[in-house]
Amino acid sequence: MSISSFLTKKYLKSLFFPSHYRGEALPNKLVKLLSNPPGSWDLPELPELGSPLSKSGLIAESRREFTEKFMAKGCFFGVNGASGLLQSAVIALANPGEAILMPRNVHISVIKTCAMQNIIPIFFDLEFSSETGHYKPVTTNWLKNVFRKITIDKKKIVGVILVSPSYHGYTGNLDPLIDLCHQKNLPVLVDEAHGSYFLFCENLDLPKSALLSNADLVVHSLHKSLNGLTQTAALWYKGDLVNENNLIKSINLLQTTSPSSLLLSSCEESIKDWLNKKSCSKYQKRILEAKRIYKKLIEKNVPLIETQDPLKIILNTSKAGIDGFTADSFFYSNGLIAELPEMTTLTFCLGFGKHKDFANLFEKLWNKLLLNKRQFKNLKVFKSPFELVQEPEIEIGIAWRSKTRSIPFSQSLNEISGDIICPYPPGIPLLVPGERIDIDRFNWINNQSLCNKDLLNFNIRVI
Ligand SMILES: Cc1ncc(COP(=O)(O)O)c(C=O)c1O
Repeated sequence: MSISSFLTKKYLKSLFFPSHYRGEALPNKLVKLLSNPPGSWDLPELPELGSPLSKSGLIAESRREFTEKFMAKGCFFGVNGASGLLQSAVIALANPGEAILMPRNVHISVIKTCAMQNIIPIFFDLEFSSETGHYKPVTTNWLKNVFRKITIDKKKIVGVILVSPSYHGYTGNLDPLIDLCHQKNLPVLVDEAHGSYFLFCENLDLPKSALLSNADLVVHSLHKSLNGLTQTAALWYKGDLVNENNLIKSINLLQTTSPSSLLLSSCEESIKDWLNKKSCSKYQKRILEAKRIYKKLIEKNVPLIETQDPLKIILNTSKAGIDGFTADSFFYSNGLIAELPEMTTLTFCLGFGKHKDFANLFEKLWNKLLLNKRQFKNLKVFKSPFELVQEPEIEIGIAWRSKTRSIPFSQSLNEISGDIICPYPPGIPLLVPGERIDIDRFNWINNQSLCNKDLLNFNIRVI
């Protein structure tokens, strides 16, 4: 089968990213564009269009309009996902040898940039829920304790990254966290890849968007949390702590010389669509529908985990002694394709499509899975083995470039990693170059591998 024929494959329910739900929630204008002769819209950077960084042309006009609308200082469209724009933001924040404070659930794209540029990741640990196996959001006290542990000047820390919401949709109150960083003169980059739509839903009792707080840099994944095509993203900046020129330079550094006009148009249309009252209200109804689905399933005793993102339906499979990967195969074989299986949970993304009768279907399948279950597994996710504040033992860029040998992970105890170990999804590294695989890390990664075939008998490159 060719890729193109696979792309037309239909599932009963495509509960994964992108959130436009197999086209159902794409902006009308984009649908109209795509109904033109295939490929006719695939244009280069003609003068009327301009390029993602040019000061004139339709792209620049759009960026200016959105910048004004949200009272930002500037906005950029990205065609290499939130990953690409996060990477540019990281390079704009720190020079090689400087450090960025970041949480342990930071996205792998950040770590790759640190390795490329030898920017030192200073990790802070996060509170962990043994019930769900998930990290909890950062609280002000937690961050205060983190700051107490470090001497900023000595470490050359030049910025802070926060991930909010997390992949599962956990958020806290960002404002006091950002204030705390600003008191130390540190700019804050918020990875809001999963929360773009919060910006348009102030009336729905959802978390406040980072862009409406005083974050210096905010990255949105428009395909994950708006209705953009895959790879579309936006980067916003505010305040005076980040140098605009650095930002432009670093976007230019990583950007393709041939950005897709279709994707650029999708960036524009997904934001415009949510600024349009009629379509915004249509999506808001779907968000409210998602909240009703959650409520109904809870009433039916389906074990769901609540987060601040109503579009994520997270099944706590461990409550029934089933691991998330087994549950994933079961739902897959019944036509419900999930986004993220983990040891104790399975996460489905509703996106912005309609989901009439979803709760009944879901409940029915869950009960069928319970009937099919062969044995009860006692699943326990180990607490993460991290210190509150920790950096790799060898500088990440040096470790990344070092000569390495490939060995089975089972023989890697006490070695120093030259590799990133990172299951995807969710793209959160378990180990980064320069970190030692001490006994606690070794046991924790083995525990993470219990049900995850990607982490079974794998080889690792060590220095
Ligand atoms: C927290 C977080 N940030 C950034 C990204 C990257 O987003 P994209 O797929 O748009 O590159 C992801 C993707 O999984 C993510 O989970």
